[in-house]
Amino acid sequence: MNRFTNFLDIVRTRQSTRAYDSRAVEAEKVDRCIEAARMAPSACNAQPWKFIVVNDPDLKNALAEATMDRILPLNHFTKQAPVHVVIVREKANMTSSIGQVLKNKEYPLIDIGIAAVHFCLQAVEEGLGTCIIGWFNEKKVRKLLSVPRNKRIELIITVGYPATNEIRPKNRKPREEVVAYNKY
Ligand SMILES: Cc1cc2nc3c(=O)[nH]c(=O)nc-3n(C[C@H](O)[C@H](O)[C@H](O)COP(=O)(O)O)c2cc1C
Repeated sequence: MNRFTNFLDIVRTRQSTRAYDSRAVEAEKVDRCIEAARMAPSACNAQPWKFIVVNDPDLKNALAEATMDRILPLNHFTKQAPVHVVIVREKANMTSSIGQVLKNKEYPLIDIGIAAVHFCLQAVEEGLGTCIIGWFNEKKVRKLLSVPRNKRIELIITVGYPATNEIRPKNRKPREEVVAYNKY
């Protein structure tokens, strides 16, 4: 642990891991990733999330099936990951909800995205790989995990030891395209 000396190293090492080895993941490592997610900022500190850790192998495999697309070559790797973390969107508090209407912003979605990244960055520190999954059969996931019908399931994060240590080159838009100073 503490293989990283600075935060940018952690950021650059995080990548979507789509091949895992069969090693089990220590519960305390997942706990620390959850802790990092739980500490994430959120609009009006609403914390509109619930994290469901799925580590039961049969349930996890059923969940993985719900992320796989029948036609597109999407998410066929998810079964390899021994742990999946499902993020359910919870009702925001009053101030965040009012702000959402007045400012026409989906604060809880922003909040959940930030929490997901906190999770994934802590996973890097733990030597684990993750992939954020936004493409899944929400109805099937809801049924498998008994999520109430009035709640949205926003993201799933696959977690496990990466099959390789290779860090792919990052494919990112050039800095000039995404950064401006003092005007648009
Ligand atoms: C909201 C969200 C949804 C995503 N959904 C999927 C997904 O369903 N399947 C997948 O393989 N990757 C998914 N990704 C991962 C992205 O494809 C990936 O982050 C992006 O291509 C950049 O690559 P990197 O994470 O390796 O840096 C998702 C990422 C985000 C943030």
